[in-house]
Amino acid sequence: MRLSNSESEAGQLRRITPGGVSSPVRAFKPFPLVIDSGQGCRITDIDGNDYVDLCMAYGPLIVGHSCPRVAKAVRDQTKKGSVFGAPSHPETKLLEKITSTVPSAEMCRMAVSGTEATMHAVRLARGYTKKNGIVKLNGGFHGAHNTVLVAAGSGSVNGTPSSLGVPEDDVRNTYLVEYNDAGMFESLLDRNEDIAGIIMEPVMGNVGVVTPKKGYLAEMRKITKEHGALLIFDEVITGFRLSAGSAQGRFGVTPDLTTMGKIIGGGYPAGAFMGKREIMEMVAPNGPVYAAGTFAGNPVSAAAGLETIDIMAEKGRYDSLEKKTQTLVARMRDALEDSGVRGCIQSIASMFSIYFGVDEVTNGSDAQKADRDMFAEMFDYMLHHGVYLPPGPMEVEFMSAAHDEEACEKIAKTFEGFLKQVKK
Ligand SMILES: Cc1ncc(COP(=O)(O)O)c(C=O)c1O
Repeated sequence: MRLSNSESEAGQLRRITPGGVSSPVRAFKPFPLVIDSGQGCRITDIDGNDYVDLCMAYGPLIVGHSCPRVAKAVRDQTKKGSVFGAPSHPETKLLEKITSTVPSAEMCRMAVSGTEATMHAVRLARGYTKKNGIVKLNGGFHGAHNTVLVAAGSGSVNGTPSSLGVPEDDVRNTYLVEYNDAGMFESLLDRNEDIAGIIMEPVMGNVGVVTPKKGYLAEMRKITKEHGALLIFDEVITGFRLSAGSAQGRFGVTPDLTTMGKIIGGGYPAGAFMGKREIMEMVAPNGPVYAAGTFAGNPVSAAAGLETIDIMAEKGRYDSLEKKTQTLVARMRDALEDSGVRGCIQSIASMFSIYFGVDEVTNGSDAQKADRDMFAEMFDYMLHHGVYLPPGPMEVEFMSAAHDEEACEKIAKTFEGFLKQVKK
């Protein structure tokens, strides 16, 4: 496989941008590939190598790269203009769609990214409850703003910043609990009356895929209600991925606030936070909680997001995507078991993740025990055999409506090939 063009451009990038990437998860050794194009479930690098894509830009592309219908919606909108700094028709239609589909969304406010959405939701929770404390999950990622940038680590203790430049004061009111442990959360709320709410992914997607134990989400709903704290579901990954009603629709648990990003922009930058009318009415200009953005509700992103959501709303789309994913995952699990290599594959709907060296992952602490070196070996093998995974072991493999049988066969065969050459 010739990679000289990528190698040279990656070198150029390293000189002009930190690590040669615009977001740290994209970096890998010896150098990240520079991508030229994407079509359906495949991408092509600038040396002309093709890959079946399982990264899918970390989640937005549920209908695949360069989906013709999404591309047309974008073309049609760009002919009319790209941003107005005023309400626009695509934004109205997307807001209508979200508020009529997502159970918690009585009202919704658009933003530009998932980071912005969670930043605004956290501020809103604090403003509405007039409390300061925010609880997050060990291993939960909600973007790159101060309150949620707290080191993973077990124990319901105040966090320490996980980045230089985050003042300790900014995370003094951030508390950590483990996923799938409602008791730990309840005892924190019993001890502390200043908790505005918890921000959590209903299905964890930043320590690989970790699903809720039976009754856990309902229990979190009950506990927050009893303690006057808000339940915020961060559905930046799971929004419009787990079902049309997102994770909350699938599990039948309605949070007070929800954040989204990724799919609602159909491959273009977008974010949104939404929730109960009474809470959302606190947002400026109606109320005293500030949220704003030049590009918020961008009409091009809205047109792309709307088309994506409409495609997935067609009968049978979610079911067939899930079936295809689960057939692939079952085959990969069989291969893993037959190989004798210790590990597990966790999955829901069209997301899955592969862990080595552990049998099950139920929370952020478990995920830390997985064998990262083995993952890196697999990543390298898959890449050199034409399957592009997200480089990090704590990321999710994303399937899309565009993944065809040939692609699934290639993923499974390549994974089997990797397992065969693992030295035990
Ligand atoms: C659950 C979750 N929340 C928030 C974010 C931040 O979103 P963005 O990268 O659009 O700022 C991410 C990003 O991957 C995410 O996975």
